[in-house]
Amino acid sequence: MHDGSGRVVVQNLTKTFGQVLAVQNLSFTVEPGSVTGFLGPNGAGKTTTLRMLLGLVTPTAGHATINGQPFHHLGNPARVVGAVLEAQSFHPQRSARNHLRVYAAAIGMPDQRVEEVLHLVGLRDAGQRSVGGFSMGMRQRLALATALLGDPQVLVLDEPSNGLDPEGIVWLRTFLQGFARQGRTVLVSSHLLSEVEQTVEQVVILSRGQAMYYGPLDQLRKAQQSRVIVRPADAPQLTAKLEEAGHTNIEQLPEGVLAVAGVEPEQVGDLALEAGVAIYGMHTQQADLEQIFFQMTSGQFSGAQLNPASPQFQQQFQQQLHQQYQQQQMQPQYQQQPQQPYQQPPSGWPQPPAQQPEQQQWQRPQDGGQQ
Ligand SMILES: Nc1ncnc2c1ncn2[C@@H]1O[C@H](COP(=O)(O)OP(=O)(O)OP(=O)(O)O)[C@@H](O)[C@H]1O
Ligand SMILES: [Mg+2]
Repeated sequence: MHDGSGRVVVQNLTKTFGQVLAVQNLSFTVEPGSVTGFLGPNGAGKTTTLRMLLGLVTPTAGHATINGQPFHHLGNPARVVGAVLEAQSFHPQRSARNHLRVYAAAIGMPDQRVEEVLHLVGLRDAGQRSVGGFSMGMRQRLALATALLGDPQVLVLDEPSNGLDPEGIVWLRTFLQGFARQGRTVLVSSHLLSEVEQTVEQVVILSRGQAMYYGPLDQLRKAQQSRVIVRPADAPQLTAKLEEAGHTNIEQLPEGVLAVAGVEPEQVGDLALEAGVAIYGMHTQQADLEQIFFQMTSGQFSGAQLNPASPQFQQQFQQQLHQQYQQQQMQPQYQQQPQQPYQQPPSGWPQPPAQQPEQQQWQRPQDGGQQ
């Protein structure tokens, strides 16, 4: 029997298709109570991993478990895990309601549950319509309704935002967060960080079948380095003043420009004033979360599982910022606008909901009963 923990464990999972190494020695754990994003570019191995987790593809090596058991040992798996994978197919002449009734009967759920899930996914009014006439977004909703039939503890969704309109995306986000707050587990894949970054708290970032990072999204946010780029009249004097004030992460750029990390532009301005050094230009250089994601998945860190707090990651990151600086060709800007004041840093990323309702522990309802 499974352990009821709601935990998903992927351990040393590998899958090869002929010459293609789709997933390489992949390990991560998904805990209940929060939404985990499974992120990676096209072909990274997301669907293959999820299919292995759901017993649809046999791993070449390693294993994946849900509640401590491989999918095939879960007993009535639909009561434990609900899944929506790519390219769901439906009988086109069948109504949404009838489609759900067939699946409900197969897993021993009453027809009343069909009405509940139609309501949950916003398809109650379309329940009588043939699925053949459904839009892509409606099909996504119906696939999700099917996954929810068994009132599962774990939800696994492969690119569920595809085809959803903006309202649908907001609805899905709210739904998944509410689902996780009940103490259930949500693993949701996407090839776009921006698509899920407001939904997920944890991320597994995949590149070429390997995990590049897994952990809290907040930790990645903290790795967003910003630097103050300043062009003083006297770089050595300002450097000395900054160092005296404890700001030692300073890079000398060409033409007497300094890049100072871990400092606000106001502080640099104040210290320059104290030191009697004129400032000819200053702005904040910010790397956003999307850049971090792109950097991790563009292949340059291939083979390494990087912690954004690690010196290696930080070093690579600084190098990228440096290249970015050079590409921006700051010098002409300074020449054109010598008195340009610093720019305000971007206002930052949307914050997670300020107040999380008290987390309820997920409990299996009585067999055949409703939630
Ligand atoms: N049945 C298969 N036969 C051969 N190669 C496959 C098969 N399934 C997947 N692959 C290959 O494995 C790699 C990973 O594919 P996968 O579908 O898991 O990626 P993905 O991350 O889901 O990508 P996408 O974002 O495009 O959905 C790709 O190179 C793909 O071509
Ligand atoms: Mg896929």
